[in-house]
Amino acid sequence: MRIAALSINPDTLQRLTGFLATDDGSVQVTTWHGDAMQAPALVEQEHPDLLVVEAPQGLEAELQGLDRVAMRHPEVTLIVVCGHQSPEFLLAAMRLGIREVLAAPLTQQGIQQSIGRIRERISWASVPRQQGKVLALVPCKGGSGTTFITANLAHAIAAEGKRVCLIDLNLHFGEAALYLSETPAASSVADVARDTQRMDSALLESSLLRINPNLGVLAAPDAPDKALSVKPESVARLIGIAKSSYDFVLLDVSRTMDAVSVKALDSADGIYLVLQLTLPFLRDASRLLQVFRSLGYPDSQVHLIINRFEKGGELSLADVERTVGRDVFKTVPNSFAAVAASINRGRPIAELAPRDAVTRSLHEMACELTKTPAQTTGWLRGLFGGGSRPSDEARASLGDRS
Ligand SMILES: Nc1ncnc2c1ncn2[C@@H]1O[C@H](COP(=O)(O)OP(=O)(O)OP(=O)(O)O)[C@@H](O)[C@H]1O
Ligand SMILES: [Mg+2]
Repeated sequence: MRIAALSINPDTLQRLTGFLATDDGSVQVTTWHGDAMQAPALVEQEHPDLLVVEAPQGLEAELQGLDRVAMRHPEVTLIVVCGHQSPEFLLAAMRLGIREVLAAPLTQQGIQQSIGRIRERISWASVPRQQGKVLALVPCKGGSGTTFITANLAHAIAAEGKRVCLIDLNLHFGEAALYLSETPAASSVADVARDTQRMDSALLESSLLRINPNLGVLAAPDAPDKALSVKPESVARLIGIAKSSYDFVLLDVSRTMDAVSVKALDSADGIYLVLQLTLPFLRDASRLLQVFRSLGYPDSQVHLIINRFEKGGELSLADVERTVGRDVFKTVPNSFAAVAASINRGRPIAELAPRDAVTRSLHEMACELTKTPAQTTGWLRGLFGGGSRPSDEARASLGDRS
């Protein structure tokens, strides 16, 4: 690996050389004294795989020159080292496609871990990949539980060892990220979608709120004016990029059938309508199914998920199938306390209530979608006590109507 370091600070260059030295010659380090403006010349001359640049004051102006490198030499991975990392600086760095921003003063562990991550990504990216599956979840009415199910299904699929990207397309009021994490997302769909030319998997990756190594969330914008700036064609491209890097892309789609939602549904391999067992939900489900037909989505692509399902209620699953004319794909049981605790604390339900019937039903759904045998793989196995038989409640949640 060829690494070049560029800084006006001779100490930084010396530290880096010391930190990166290897006995086996697997890493070659070149140092240049100067600022980022010299980066294009350095890259032309040294052809590094990785360029480390110091921006001592964390000012956007100190990144000048790196845009030319990013445009002309996308094969070069960029790392910036700086003392003060303001949100504006991090955003500017992200837009330039800089992979990592490291805090100064550099530590040996910090730079080595960063290079380890980059190496891992490069080798992962060089493996030819199948396109991931895009699942769009759509509420029949407000408050159906779509965001809760989308967020926790994404978490359950990730627990099966799949790489999952959740994109919150409730552009005006989306809060899917907050259902899984208390940490506010640093960037959103609007930041990634701003410039279609620059949109790529590296930008998407650096914009995700990481929930765990297998699961990242691209949050909805935090202000309505930003939501308005998101174009439908940018959303289509964003989903295309996400599915080229992830096994599963889950979309939390708004029920307003605007141009952004339609683009999202056009990109989906499966559309999952979320409803509850009351007549207003059934009426809206029928209406939405008609809309989907008129949009040309084949019936086989659209599935029903009944949320807050309780056996023995006034309406049965057979009633749904008769009224809506469609089989129910899955049911998720009603479990107010566990669901409310998960949402209020911003933690996946599987972490807070691993034995809850809702957790089990989402685990079963994830297994069916990933085609892994239920409760035989993934970390949930331990939590469930080694694959015990599902409880009656859990079987009810799977639509077992015996
Ligand atoms: N299986 C469940 N059992 C009990 N309560 C649930 C369940 N699923 C969702 N809820 C409750 O329903 C409420 C609405 O859930 P959620 O925000 O996921 O719905 P939504 O369809 O995304 O709503 P919106 O239309 O606002 O986007 C939550 O506050 C949650 O407490
Ligand atoms: Mg929602």
